[in-house]
Amino acid sequence: MSSDPVRADIGDSLAIEVKGLTRSFGAVSALDGVDLEIARGTVFGLLGPNGAGKTTTVRILNGVLEATAVECLRVLGHDLPRDAAAVRPLVGVQTDTSLYDRMSALDNLVLFGRLYGATRGAARGKAEALLAMFGLTDRAGDRAGTFSKGMRQKLLLARALVGDPELVYLDEPTAGLDPEASHELMVHIRTMSERDHTTFFIASHRLDEMEEVCSQVAVLVDGRIRECGSPAEVARRAVPRVLVRVAPAPDAMVRPEVLRGLPGVVDTSVQQDGSVLLEAAGSSDVPRIVKAVAALPVDLLGVGEEPPTLAEAYLTLVGATDMVRGGGS
Ligand SMILES: Nc1ncnc2c1ncn2[C@@H]1O[C@H](COP(=O)(O)OP(=O)(O)O)[C@@H](O)[C@H]1O
Ligand SMILES: [Mg+2]
Repeated sequence: MSSDPVRADIGDSLAIEVKGLTRSFGAVSALDGVDLEIARGTVFGLLGPNGAGKTTTVRILNGVLEATAVECLRVLGHDLPRDAAAVRPLVGVQTDTSLYDRMSALDNLVLFGRLYGATRGAARGKAEALLAMFGLTDRAGDRAGTFSKGMRQKLLLARALVGDPELVYLDEPTAGLDPEASHELMVHIRTMSERDHTTFFIASHRLDEMEEVCSQVAVLVDGRIRECGSPAEVARRAVPRVLVRVAPAPDAMVRPEVLRGLPGVVDTSVQQDGSVLLEAAGSSDVPRIVKAVAALPVDLLGVGEEPPTLAEAYLTLVGATDMVRGGGS
């Protein structure tokens, strides 16, 4: 409680604190004991396949859906759902239903700025600054309904930001965007988190983008958090790839299938210099691979570990390892 200075400090530094969050829809368990601690200023990515429970989590954190059971649910230091009214003005949400298509982009933003309590002048200033930031100044007077998908997503993000929120929820913010527009959106998010210390909570299954922008991620599968940490930490904790590098003697015909068929080898790839990388199933397979290689006209060049990418770690965690390993049986 606030009488405990240490506890108060911890509470203050956290944008989101969740413990034991559970939500069912009838017989369907959407969230099954989710714990999250997200520091202020973090760009946080909630990753997970379709149906994992991402949107349900966002809706509960955002106060539009109630938990079935929860031990602790604090957003910006306020308990939910009790203090929902205190949290609402501090939070921005990007949802696709929140633009008036027949109003201009500028008027949409000014309207929402005023709903967040800004004066007309202040709301207009903020709206113009956001439109400039997103490169939409020359379209400010156009109806939102005439915007392309990419422009619309930027306008929705601007709408979420117009009230100067401390925390912004984005649910699949780059759905339907081309890679350039997605990248641009990620750059804006990073800029704002660095400049204004805004906290972003992004639900997405776009791993490349999340790896680019997030300082923390959690992988949600079937309503449970499987892994959390920085993208590099999450990747490292999944099984690293152990690689044995060999060079077949130039005059000996060692066919790739022979190397591929060695015990403990799950994959091979030929490098530009003609050397071959043998991927071991795990470090415990390295000795027998080395032994088998020694019996062939092949030089052993080295053994090393390569941390998996976030995408590989993710696919391991969601149980799609065949896709990572190229369908090995
Ligand atoms: N309003 C609802 N009524 C019934 N089931 C729901 C509802 N919302 C979500 N679910 C179920 O909860 C699970 C998680 O859904 P959701 O949070 O939308 O996942 P995600 O956003 O990760 O794709 C799914 O099985 C989904 O069908
Ligand atoms: Mg969803």
